[in-house]
Amino acid sequence: MSHFAAIGRVPGDPILGLLDAYRIDSNPAKLDLGVGVYKDASGLTPIPRAVKLAEQRLLETEATKTYIGGHGAPEFGERLLALTFDAGNALLADQLAGATQTPGGTGALRLAGEFVARNLPGRAIWLSNPTWPIHESIFATCGLRVEHYPYVGADNRLDVDAMLDALQRVPAGDVVLLHACCHNPTGFDLSQQDWQRVLEVVKARELLPLIDFAYQGFGDGLDEDAWAVRLFAAELPELLVTSSCSKNFGLYRERTGALIVRAENAEKLIDIRSQLAFLARNLWSTPPSHGAAVVAQILGDAELKTLWAEEVDAMRQRVASLRSGLVAALRPHGLDERLAHVAQQRGMFSYTGLTAEQVARLRNEFSIYLVSSGRASVAGMSEERLDYLAAAIARVCQA
Ligand code: LMR
Repeated sequence: MSHFAAIGRVPGDPILGLLDAYRIDSNPAKLDLGVGVYKDASGLTPIPRAVKLAEQRLLETEATKTYIGGHGAPEFGERLLALTFDAGNALLADQLAGATQTPGGTGALRLAGEFVARNLPGRAIWLSNPTWPIHESIFATCGLRVEHYPYVGADNRLDVDAMLDALQRVPAGDVVLLHACCHNPTGFDLSQQDWQRVLEVVKARELLPLIDFAYQGFGDGLDEDAWAVRLFAAELPELLVTSSCSKNFGLYRERTGALIVRAENAEKLIDIRSQLAFLARNLWSTPPSHGAAVVAQILGDAELKTLWAEEVDAMRQRVASLRSGLVAALRPHGLDERLAHVAQQRGMFSYTGLTAEQVARLRNEFSIYLVSSGRASVAGMSEERLDYLAAAIARVCQA
């Protein structure tokens, strides 16, 4: 008898799968706009200088490789909370918020899903349509019922009214996943006024928000991007936030993130954290240390923190200029108005509006890799390749 004979194949990952296809493409003109990683003008994903300096210090000072606890390194958690909520926030002094270190933002999402499945049975989770495709599979794997609220309209533009209308009909108690900034995949963010309206519905419907905060610093700035998270934490007694250090610290492969919980009182926070430690123990035991140690070094040192903040700012500004650069490059092809939204969106991604068929042609005819939903990683572009990209987009749009 074969134990494995009946096991079939699942499709490759819709995002990471592109990395493999890109790697084996021998066309020297190839362009990787698939997975969300920042690339500099030479096409490299750099290690920020602040990270290198912190690593040098760790090399000299790290004295042990013994386990860190189930919640990770306390100094990482404290400093990440201060970055998320602002150091002076009363929530921190009153011990109403805690961070559990996780393997990346993906680990934080999985832990949040397991927490809801185990402790809040029967609650569905509502995701924006569209959302990061892995949101769908993570929460389904946790056994949660996954539902959707609209986010963009047929015209490929943000439709806040449709979103609010749908949220108003979500059953009380359900979980609603919101993107703090740099919405993945669309790049369309809510305005402060939109967030206020969402908050009113969340309060009225008694929903539990889970805010995915994977791109702090890539939208409008480190503090600006935390605006909605801080608003919700101030106005609501209970909240979940998943934070990632992959992009803003350039620590992608070090798997560094956290699940942050804001609870009604300090006692309840301890209860919840005991549940998270239990779940984490059964998922990955204790989290990997290196990336979090780097983040803790940087955030705990004024000089390194300033250097890092400047580096995040530089990445953000470069991506913003690539956005307007692409629209300018599309002008000679008569496509600048049709794709004007690319310059208005925020963060690493643009929902271009290209169809799956057009995306396939970009890949087959020009070795340009996008996610089949039409999502392009603007952070993977470079100034000198914009004309090639614009000409290719023009070809697949006009034929
Ligand atoms: C992306 O959406 O490309 C990034 O969040 C990376 C990932 O893990 O998918």
